[in-house]
Amino acid sequence: MDNFKKLKATEITQNLIGLISKSMLITAGERDNFNTMTASWGGVAFLWNKPVVFIFVRPERYTNYFLENTDTFSLSFFDDSYKKQLLFCGTKSGKDVDKVKETGLTPLFTKEGTPIFAEAELLLECKKLYVDKFNEEFFLDKDMLEQFYGEKGGLHRIFIAEVTNVWQKDE
Ligand SMILES: Cc1cc2nc3c(=O)[nH]c(=O)nc-3n(C[C@H](O)[C@H](O)[C@H](O)COP(=O)(O)O)c2cc1C
Repeated sequence: MDNFKKLKATEITQNLIGLISKSMLITAGERDNFNTMTASWGGVAFLWNKPVVFIFVRPERYTNYFLENTDTFSLSFFDDSYKKQLLFCGTKSGKDVDKVKETGLTPLFTKEGTPIFAEAELLLECKKLYVDKFNEEFFLDKDMLEQFYGEKGGLHRIFIAEVTNVWQKDE
């Protein structure tokens, strides 16, 4: 982590909505058993007097298993030169392939044991606070159920997590 500087969540200057919409890797699990997937739905907020992130993950993702079963996860943001790797991690499942081996990304582990990636520009370590799932009943615009669910996949799990550590690549 020598080439990263540690920041407080409130010191992040990048446009996080922009960064999330361009895709990130969500990574969860332990040193000898973890998985990563690409995501472009998520958010950041200040809630319960803490900086938090929200992520939205369909139950059928292999990564969801790790998110459900570990207390922490990471969000890794990359520059555009990693588009190919992000597309790979967003179209293949860790059930079938070894994403680390296939992408050549380098996993590192935080003090808490959370997997992160050395090639990222910005890294957020997050501690789960609240887990829920979308409920069909509460969609006010039912067309969205057809647009995003049914054959397209299961209703997303919602993870709200405290941002406990932030590292930014030192230029
Ligand atoms: C650009 C992009 C954004 C994605 N965003 C999400 C997302 O926010 N939530 C989600 O559940 N899946 C999302 N996916 C799909 C997962 O990344 C994909 O299903 C992946 O293969 C799951 O891997 P896993 O089974 O190893 O967990 C996205 C895929 C791409 C390519």
